[in-house]
Amino acid sequence: MRKRRGRLVALGIVMAVLIPLGYLWATSLVPGTYNPADMGYADYGGGVAGGHEHHHQAASIAELTGPKTGTPDVAVTLVARKEKKGLAGYTLNGSSPGPLIRAESGALVQVTLVNESVPDGATLHWHGIDVPNAEDGVAGVTQDAVPIGGRHVYRFRAEDAGTYWYHSHQVSSDQVKGGLFGPIVIAPKAPGEVLATIHTYDGKRTINGQMGSQRVELPAGTTARLRVINTDNAILRVGVTGAAYKVVAVDGREVKGPTPVTKAYALAAGGRVDLEAVVPAGGMSLVAGTSALSLKIGPGDGPVGELPAETVDLLSYGKRAPLGFDPAKADRRFEYRIGRRIGFLDGVPGLWWTINGHKFPDVPMYMVAEGDIVRMTISNTSGQSHPMHLHGHHAVVLTRNGTPSTGSPWWTDTVEVGNNETYEIAFRADNPGLWMDHCHNLPHASEGLMTHLMYAGYTTPYQIGGTTHNEPE
Ligand code: C2O
Ligand code: CU
Repeated sequence: MRKRRGRLVALGIVMAVLIPLGYLWATSLVPGTYNPADMGYADYGGGVAGGHEHHHQAASIAELTGPKTGTPDVAVTLVARKEKKGLAGYTLNGSSPGPLIRAESGALVQVTLVNESVPDGATLHWHGIDVPNAEDGVAGVTQDAVPIGGRHVYRFRAEDAGTYWYHSHQVSSDQVKGGLFGPIVIAPKAPGEVLATIHTYDGKRTINGQMGSQRVELPAGTTARLRVINTDNAILRVGVTGAAYKVVAVDGREVKGPTPVTKAYALAAGGRVDLEAVVPAGGMSLVAGTSALSLKIGPGDGPVGELPAETVDLLSYGKRAPLGFDPAKADRRFEYRIGRRIGFLDGVPGLWWTINGHKFPDVPMYMVAEGDIVRMTISNTSGQSHPMHLHGHHAVVLTRNGTPSTGSPWWTDTVEVGNNETYEIAFRADNPGLWMDHCHNLPHASEGLMTHLMYAGYTTPYQIGGTTHNEPE
């Protein structure tokens, strides 16, 4: 009798644990097919629920294309391929990084993506270029992944001069790492331009696809503009040794009043920086991480030293200038609080990222209306650093850990939010559609550190999963 009761109690305890666990497990399951617009819960950031306009029928984001007619000024075809040999697992036109796309400001750009052999399908996203939503290249959000044998044409007008990159946004945690990306520069080619696309293939860090130290021949006295792109998942210290340099642009936006520095620059994952330096008689080096990976720039075999410990702080670098809007008059104030907790994600137990305490896919959908001024506070207590990337917009950093920006307006599309850091950013909602807002340490995004900014009155016809196998992360 006593024994039996003991067993019942034990069974009761087991059930008391298993039933809630089973419930948590079941509620963590992500549907096989869903519309990204239906994801999570609406967060209006204290603004009007329906937006400023009256409610009429939702418009499809598929209509938000670039110019449909007109002869392109730049027309490129990129053929995506899966590779069996070599450093890169994927190439575009046979190389990784893919070819440089160059356009001048105002040019109509047309890129045709052809998928020759990428099994999961592929897309092209224009990282940092605020293109119309339907050209944004996110599988399951703005288009279907292009299957083997398929093609997709992107058309947009290049506007803001600067350094950008493109990459697949289908199973991006695998495809970007594997090599499906390339540089895009909006600016005419200048004599002192040096491009440095940094990427780690299979544990081997490279500049423009090559390991070790490379030479770039430039006469002494040339004003060199180094366009540095971090296509990796982790922040990287870069900089110039052998000469002082100025940080002249960040994420495709000009820095106002830059002053010469001899420091390192911490380049966010996914971010870009343009460094300007005058080539000294003895040459100089662009160093990526350590001197083991560098570009020796100049007339001779210049010096390569290690980068100094100190880094440029953009919060106080350069001169103040008007933002073009008043962040004090914000229509919405959002919080993007990054944490971590034990639980299930799609039935898999683990330590998962949370946004405002919620696990993917039950995360906030940040709702805005066109014309809104938006403030967002991104905080991070997750134990790791996260390069946060909002598609389709550039935001300005207002404060970091409560300290206001006193330097040049720090416009960014990818801001590295370290553990225990808080960034307050602001932007104008001037590009309607449904936009990803995620961590650019791409495995983190695939682990659920991902949500969207959504304009009221829009919907998307695309689906995650399903027959198209759309899987943006
Ligand atoms: Cu560079 Cu959502 O990506
Ligand atoms: Cu992250």
